[in-house]
Amino acid sequence: MREKRKKEHIEYALSTGQSREHGFHDVTFVHQSLPGTSLYTIDLTTKIGELDLSLPIFINAMTGGGGRRTEKINSQLAEAARECNLAIGVGSQMAAIKDPFQERTYKVMRDKNPNGVIFANLGSEATVEEAKKAIEMIEANALQIHVNAVQELVMPEGDRDFCDALLNIEKIAKHIEIPLIVKEVGYGMSKETAKKLLDAGVNIVDIGGFGGTNFSLIENKRRDRMLTFMNEWGIQTASSIAEVTQTSPFIDVIASGGIQTGLEVAKSIALGASACGMAGFFLNILLNEGLESLIKEIEYILNELKMIMTALGRKDIQSLQKAPIVISGNTHHWLTERGIK
Ligand code: FNR
Repeated sequence: MREKRKKEHIEYALSTGQSREHGFHDVTFVHQSLPGTSLYTIDLTTKIGELDLSLPIFINAMTGGGGRRTEKINSQLAEAARECNLAIGVGSQMAAIKDPFQERTYKVMRDKNPNGVIFANLGSEATVEEAKKAIEMIEANALQIHVNAVQELVMPEGDRDFCDALLNIEKIAKHIEIPLIVKEVGYGMSKETAKKLLDAGVNIVDIGGFGGTNFSLIENKRRDRMLTFMNEWGIQTASSIAEVTQTSPFIDVIASGGIQTGLEVAKSIALGASACGMAGFFLNILLNEGLESLIKEIEYILNELKMIMTALGRKDIQSLQKAPIVISGNTHHWLTERGIK
């Protein structure tokens, strides 16, 4: 059942695509005629919690546990991460915790990228013991715990009870030795959620906003009777980044949800994010055009980002976080209604 679901997720993620309704078109940089920067000395290093990253983009959690095809996908994603020096997340490891035979589909990422930064991944139902096993399985540098209540509700065989999620997260935060990232999967995070997580001891969140891969569309394809109203459910990526960065200064924010370009990475950082995760866009390139194209695309995005930083007079990620921006349209309306400046 789990294996079939993984295959369908990949297939439907590619066929449903990305709506691009992430709100970044409402964010405009203020042009600077005398930037005083050089493309040759732009510094892209960043930090999320205690974790140092050499680049501010990474390949976000996708696959694992689905047999030979997933093993090949993970192997190639790990190669791209190694070649480009990017961090990378594995897909949910619950499949391998339930059935150790599946471990190889995840371990291949560490084998291909022995010195890279790799994130382990489990859902918020995980116990401390399971979290420790997932970390050990791939010698992870950080653990992602995904929160995906709406996806589960739309998923025909999904969870229906989320009462223990926050308590589980609190226990995991207390008992693991590496940084913990709590992530959404395309519905965004509110300032209220961020506050609950901070109180539970979490200081890194991936807001996983609306506007990219849409798991309601994906799960609805797997249902007999669709919950179409869930297809529009979620906080757009740009609004969600600002919700958390402007209200929770002690949380480091990872932006994700529909990010595809250097400009969207730059806007995410200017909204206060410290790094950006990209999932569906990279998977699409890998499966339709191959590994070489994926590596080229990553290099292209990083070069675009450097050009934007040069034009704006921002020599590093910390200074890009303070670049002047103007917010208009629906994003401005959302943030005003939510009392966020
Ligand atoms: C995902 N995503 C995901 N997230 C997670 O935490 N654990 C997982 O196992 C998976 N599995 C998965 C499979 C596939 C095929 C895709 C495309 C995505 C969600 C992913 O990490 C990310 O949060 C969302 O896809 C939103 O980002 P993009 O795709 O809009 O860049």
